[in-house]
Amino acid sequence: MTPSDSLPTEPIVKTTARILCAALLAGALGEAAGQAHQPPKVTADTYVWEQTENPYSGDAEAIAEGQRLYRSTCYICHGDTGARGPNLRKSKLKGQAFMKIVIQGRKGTQMPAWKGKLTESEMWKIYSFIEAPLP
Ligand code: HEC
Repeated sequence: MTPSDSLPTEPIVKTTARILCAALLAGALGEAAGQAHQPPKVTADTYVWEQTENPYSGDAEAIAEGQRLYRSTCYICHGDTGARGPNLRKSKLKGQAFMKIVIQGRKGTQMPAWKGKLTESEMWKIYSFIEAPLP
């Protein structure tokens, strides 16, 4: 069996697209009907921040990974307690509101959009690190 035998990429792509469409539709309908959000479900690179809560809250491994990511991507501007950008530990932005800024950036400021550079999972891990109590 060659590797291509075990990798039916085309159907997987189609299935993923169908699941995504269904998820988006369900989200829109749920929103319209004023229903409660579904439990958090993060799939790579979907950026559905409107529908998710932090899936890594209190997860030590995710927090450690978030710290590493924060160091390499955010620290240069946000430092440990703020620098060019504000101290994120003191930010009033929680959960989805935080994710929205990280995904889209803030126009007219130096805060860049991270969509396409970090996955949604990585962003939530950074958030977990920021939310975690300092050692
Ligand atoms: C090039 C510098 C730069 C980098 C890199 C950067 N930021 Fe920012 N960020 C800023 C600045 C400047 C602001 C303040 C924008 C404003 O004036 O509203 C900001 C604002 C924010 C805010 C809004 C805070 C609030 O309470 O209003 C969040 C959240 C944020 N950054 C998260 C991140 C994360 C997470 C990373 C790493 C993935 C990151 N930033 C990387 C410069 C940066």
